Amino acid sequence: MTHSDTTGHLLTLADMDRATLSSLLDQAEHYILQTGKPAPRNNHLAGFTVANLFYEPSTRTRASFELAAKRLGADVLNLDVDTSSAVKGETVLDTVDTLLAMGVNAFVVRHRDEGVLELLANHIGARAVVINAGEGTSNHPTQGLLDMLTIRQHKPDFAELTVTIIGDIKHSRVARSDVQALHTLGVKALRFAGPDNLLPTDIENWPGERNADIDAALKGADVLMLLRIQKERLVDTSLPFDDYFKAFGISPARLALAAPDAIVLHPGPMNRGVEIDDAVADGPQSVIRKQVANGVAVRMAVLETLLKKPQAIKRQD
Ligand code: CP
Repeated sequence: MTHSDTTGHLLTLADMDRATLSSLLDQAEHYILQTGKPAPRNNHLAGFTVANLFYEPSTRTRASFELAAKRLGADVLNLDVDTSSAVKGETVLDTVDTLLAMGVNAFVVRHRDEGVLELLANHIGARAVVINAGEGTSNHPTQGLLDMLTIRQHKPDFAELTVTIIGDIKHSRVARSDVQALHTLGVKALRFAGPDNLLPTDIENWPGERNADIDAALKGADVLMLLRIQKERLVDTSLPFDDYFKAFGISPARLALAAPDAIVLHPGPMNRGVEIDDAVADGPQSVIRKQVANGVAVRMAVLETLLKKPQAIKRQD
């Protein structure tokens, strides 16, 4: 199924055009939290209702969508899936229809199964907006947007950047959304590094270069994007956590191989001592907390745009 009939929803960054992407980042800049000042807020979404439906765990995405909607004056419904009628077998479509009958205007949905978001968007049509908050291993578009905002704040010209993505790329929806956005924004070079069995089988077709040698992948890079190593995925591999850190973990010594002003991103939650050393996670080149702060601003921009100006979301030709 294509995304051709999902206009007005945000399911992926794969087909978002460059001007739209940049304009969402510009809009998010207005909603950045300033130290020592109250959080930006308005009533632009007064009268709208946003429902958070998370069928997988989340801290950052769920909390930031809730704060984003509240700071725009919307009503927010956080459905606790574990105690909802989903446990009695109610389908996602029936749950959505039930909430539509109560006047929900936007559904923020995280689901482990590929295709559920598209199914929902097709089912709901123009009756409400669907926003992908993390889908299987394929898409996490608002994470991609907040990562682009964070990079742009430090390094505004994507055409000059070398970005290295490290870790479990195979299972990472964050990596896929980031690669789509970086490609659209015209990044100069993309490098990929990770254990062989945690790289996608089609990595050779991705827009970048696979580096078997982690040190070569880091050399001179402007941006390091680390990914969460998922314990459940490593069970099947021959690479225990300790060995992973030795092979691919980012220590201060490894970080020193990158450009002197390189920044380090991680979508969280972090496994300290596995993919990242404490000294890097909490060091001056880490922008990991800034990513979290930017997540609220980006989600404010996304909610406001989709609910008030959906025609502003344009696709690539
Ligand atoms: N980055 C991210 O999606 O974090 P959560 O799983 O906590 O939402």
